[in-house]
Amino acid sequence: MSMQNNSEPENHTDWGHYSSPATPWLWARVNGQSRPAHQGVAMDHEKLNVLISEERLQARIKELGKEIRAHYGDQCITCIGVLKGSFMFMADLVRAIGGDVRCEFLGVSSYQGGTKSTGVVRITEDLRHPIENQHCLIVEDIIDTGLTMDYLLKLLEVRGPKTLKTCSLLDKPSNRDVPLSTDFVGFSIPDEFVVGYGLDLGELYRNLPYIAVYSP
Ligand code: PRP
Repeated sequence: MSMQNNSEPENHTDWGHYSSPATPWLWARVNGQSRPAHQGVAMDHEKLNVLISEERLQARIKELGKEIRAHYGDQCITCIGVLKGSFMFMADLVRAIGGDVRCEFLGVSSYQGGTKSTGVVRITEDLRHPIENQHCLIVEDIIDTGLTMDYLLKLLEVRGPKTLKTCSLLDKPSNRDVPLSTDFVGFSIPDEFVVGYGLDLGELYRNLPYIAVYSP
């Protein structure tokens, strides 16, 4: 997510709130976590505190895979990864699920009409195949306000899947803007700005093998 301005955030601890109208460029809530303005072109590891280690992540993903496979039995599951954030989780999750799995991807981008997400999501890359009569599982890296998932559920439901469920590696239940019931969740986390394992700040940090809190 590229930011429009490199100004220093005034309030470094104001995680989880929309940017003030006076400083909309500092804490752009662009359909996801409220995020600090990106300051550079390189990762700054001194600003990271590991929240979920690689070992915990991988162990939980293996459990999640077993839970999901147990739920569906030997039926084929169409896993729908939501780009970009889910790419790494999707890769590990489908291996942990095992059995018959179809992999599909959806590219989404928020409608940036202001500093607050409207919940209007633009599809940048649609599914390549119909999902009618299939068991579909939307795979996300994080559910924050719930606006993206709420939109995706409505979008896909009308395409006639046999079942439609959700799986998110991370969940911030305290930050919901829309009521949303989740099906499979890896970790519930506090309302902190997190990066790594697919989640970015200014398109960096996605390749970290762990989840870390970023403190500017
Ligand atoms: C993140 C994440 C979800 C969405 C969740 O995407 O991958 O799609 O935000 O936020 P919400 O619950 O508040 O709607 P982001 O917009 O950061 O794009 P990205 O996946 O390309 O990093």
